[in-house]
Amino acid sequence: MSLPASDLNKKADGLTTMQLGGVLPETAEVIDGHLHIGGVDMVTLAKEQGTALYVYDEQMIRHNMERYLIAFRKNYPNADVLYASKAFLNMAILNIANELGMCLDVSGGGELAMALAAKFPAERIFVHGNNKTPLELEEAISAGAGRIVVDSLEELRRISEIAGKLGKTQDIYMRITPGVEADTHAYICTGCEDSKFGFTLRDDYAFACIKQAIDTPNVNLAGLHCHIGSQIFALESFKEAAFVMVNMIARVRDEFGCIIKELDLGGGLGVAYMQPDRPSTIEDFAKVTCDAVREACEKHGLELPRLMVEPGRSLVANAGVTLYTVGTIKDLKGVRKFVAIDGGMSDNIRTALYDSEYEPVIANKADRPRTEIVTLCGKHCESGDAVVLDGSLQEAEVEDIVCVFGTGAYCYTMASNYNGQPRPGIVFVKDGKANLVTRRETYADLMSRDIVYAMDQFRDKFQKNIC
Ligand code: LLP
Repeated sequence: MSLPASDLNKKADGLTTMQLGGVLPETAEVIDGHLHIGGVDMVTLAKEQGTALYVYDEQMIRHNMERYLIAFRKNYPNADVLYASKAFLNMAILNIANELGMCLDVSGGGELAMALAAKFPAERIFVHGNNKTPLELEEAISAGAGRIVVDSLEELRRISEIAGKLGKTQDIYMRITPGVEADTHAYICTGCEDSKFGFTLRDDYAFACIKQAIDTPNVNLAGLHCHIGSQIFALESFKEAAFVMVNMIARVRDEFGCIIKELDLGGGLGVAYMQPDRPSTIEDFAKVTCDAVREACEKHGLELPRLMVEPGRSLVANAGVTLYTVGTIKDLKGVRKFVAIDGGMSDNIRTALYDSEYEPVIANKADRPRTEIVTLCGKHCESGDAVVLDGSLQEAEVEDIVCVFGTGAYCYTMASNYNGQPRPGIVFVKDGKANLVTRRETYADLMSRDIVYAMDQFRDKFQKNIC
């Protein structure tokens, strides 16, 4: 895969760091030309910890979680917020989400295991996934997971069987595909008809499956769920989904005499990746969805269900940045200027995968205007390996520290070891302190699961001990 041709007529935007606005972490500031986040100098941090490095503004993560909880609870009597852990997951964020009283969305056995290891209360964990294995279902049910979101009839049958075997009744949601076409990248649009997720409304299939769930032993149909997609700017799409879902709840009451008490509208609120982006606020998102549910319930004479949302990206994307060191610069006159960094598609696959855009700055020249158009390319053996294509940047020199904003969601969790690249460490910054919360991978980590290597290590140690 090669890069699309560089736009040679593109002019650098001349912006300095603080003019990037909503893209920045909340505590970003520039002091003596250096970018600071959480009161910590990013240039010093990069030198101390090495690069590539993920850095999170802890205050902003906390603030965003609180904003969600307050906004939903202010607008609605019985609302809960789940953190969609696929956006960014490690022990540190699990502890924060738990401490603030959030619920948690996990999408499989691995995320569940991490949550349980962090002592996240199982009853506040909701288990997702379109093809959970029987083992994953058993792990979830035996751990006492609060809700399992059912994605197929096969899974409904499996849950019933496993719960029966364990002598439990499992609370479930049925995931409905509400047929809402959200305006986002096709790969992350999930509520439309052509989707592998959930039960389709076509031919009343979802409705028939809900009846089956009501009649299935060892499960309790606690609620309905939908998720229309990710990085959505138009609040109208959420409103539409809310109407479809409440309509469904009313039909279930009218035709089956069953009252569905919970409604989970999924995640999906968009964030600012680029300076001109103006996503809706958490507060507006809460108001629109709560009002829509209330209006639809009034229309159908329904009691308000417990309302859940599952944001991921909008909690963490702008709180996170990635720091890199510039290694080489190639100015191919009349073609493109490459600034090569010590990471790339292994720590941020989103540019290659979704044509995502990011705003970069040079952390040690943060008060200078961005006067160049460059391609920030990675160090991987692939032409398409770039984090920023044709982006504005201050004039770059070798050993400069580059900071790419907005990388807090779906970068670390989608990272790989391509070309034997160890995954970066993660630092949380707050009140002038830098806290290493996930260490960088080592070369030893890269081979630690290979049986031959592990056996050799064991033999070496064993022989040393007995000699
Ligand atoms: N709930 C469910 C059932 C989901 O599938 C997702 C995301 C969320 C909640 C959270 O959505 P958010 O608030 O983060 O938009 N890797 C892609 C994003 C995939 C999203 C998958 N599902 C990316 O990098 O853009």
